[in-house]
Parts: sequence; structure tokens; C-alpha cells
Amino acid sequence: MQVCASCHGADGNSAGGAYPKLAGQHPEYLVKQLRDFKTQAGAKQPARNNAIMAGMAAALSDQDMINVAAYFAAQTPKPGYAHNKSTVALGQQIYRGGVADRGVPACASCHGPTGQGIPSQFPHLSGQWAEYSVAQLNAFAQGPGARNNNEAMHTIASRLSDNEIKAVADYIAGLR
Ligand code: HEC
Ligand code: HEC
Repeated sequence: MQVCASCHGADGNSAGGAYPKLAGQHPEYLVKQLRDFKTQAGAKQPARNNAIMAGMAAALSDQDMINVAAYFAAQTPKPGYAHNKSTVALGQQIYRGGVADRGVPACASCHGPTGQGIPSQFPHLSGQWAEYSVAQLNAFAQGPGARNNNEAMHTIASRLSDNEIKAVADYIAGLR
């Protein structure tokens, strides 16, 4: 945990949007991400490509991952805030209702009405830094070489415009 604290905060509440908050996240999801940052046997690149986290994950055993995930999952997430008043309505519309004419399902259908997620299946999103969520949605949209660890999120993110990604990420930051 001490190694992780410099970027993610000692209590899993990072100081800014370059690093995700880990506090209160579902432990199974955290373990999956740590595994996905490692290049698996037979693969050319990790399913989730990030140079910093590849180095971190490489140093962890399977048991370390389970332990560190349990620690961060047990911390209390600090609430976040939406910053852009002019896009909150659009963000809320996408989050609750999706974008019907492009086949984008409501984010709430998997991540829950308040962004709490569903343990083990769908990550907790509410209160996360908008800058980080924007980066992840762009990475999902790109897929291979960026973030290629969930087919549904690849499809969803690749159907959203830049403005829609920014709006829904800002809305998520203020969800509680
Ligand atoms: C030098 C900074 C740094 C350190 C130290 C660090 N991380 Fe990270 N971590 C990051 C960055 C940057 C990301 C976002 C990566 C991306 O964009 O995919 C991240 C992402 C993650 C994620 C994915 C979170 C999510 O919501 O999907 C997990 C889990 C994680 N880190 C765990 C850890 C653990 C456990 C440690 C300590 C062993 C650690 N990190 C140390 C910078 C760091
Ligand atoms: C079909 C279910 C489903 C729907 C609908 C869905 N998601 Fe996801 N989402 C997931 C899953 C599963 C993951 C975790 C994938 C993984 O293992 O890395 C995820 C991950 C994410 C992440 C990364 C979280 C992190 O900490 O790195 C973001 C951001 C996200 N989703 C945003 C959205 C938004 C915005 C929408 C609506 C436009 C949406 N999701 C709709 C299933 C879904």
C-alpha cells in the first residue's frame, strides 16, 4: 500500500484526476485490473496498457493483488463534483437513458443509478475524477494497445462523441 499511496493516496483517494480513486471500489474489479495490466502468457501486450501500472503490477503476486485490493476496497471514497453546469443535463441523459439511436445502453443499467456499480461485475464509478473517466472512455474506444479488457465498454465508448464522453464523465464525478 505504501508504494501505491504516492499516486492513489494512503486512503485510496487520489489528489487529482491523473490517478484514479481506488477507495470503495469493488475488490474483484481491482484484482482484475491489476491482472490486466500484466502481459499474460501467449499475449503480445497487456489487455490494459499503461506503462506505470505495468511496472507496479509486475511486482505483485496474486496474493498481494488480493490483499491490496481488499485494503483499498475497505476505504471510504470522498465524493466528487461536476464542474460543467452546461453539460450536466446531457451527461445525465446519457447516464440514465443511453443514446437510443446509436444503440448506446444506459450506463445506469450496469453501473447502477447512483454509480455504485454491482459488486464483482460492474465497477463503482461515482465520485471518480472526470479527467480519469474521460481517459478511460477514450482508451476503451481505441481498444487494442490501450484498454481492451471489456467488449461491451469498447462498443459503448466507440459510439460516443468527444463531447458526450466529457459530459457523462463530468456527470459521473458528481454522482452520489
Ligand atoms: C506513479 C504513480 C502510480 C503508482 C505508484 C501506482 N499507480 Fe495505480 N495507477 C496509476 C495510473 C496513472 C493509473 C491509470 C492507468 C490507466 O490510465 O489505465 C492507475 C490505475 C490503477 C488501477 C485501475 C483503477 C481503475 O479504476 O480501473 C488500479 C487497480 C491501481 N492503479 C492499483 C495500484 C496499486 C495496487 C498500486 C501499488 C502497488 C499502484 N496502483 C501504484 C498510477 C500509479
Ligand atoms: C453492459 C454493461 C455496461 C454498460 C451498459 C456500461 N458499462 Fe461501463 N463498464 C462495464 C464493465 C464490465 C466495466 C469494467 C471492465 C473491466 O473489467 O475493465 C466498465 C468500466 C467502465 C469504466 C472504467 C472504470 C474505471 O475505474 O476505470 C468507465 C469510466 C465506464 N465503464 C463508464 C461507462 C459509461 C459512461 C457508460 C454509459 C455510456 C457505461 N460505462 C456503460 C460495463 C458496462
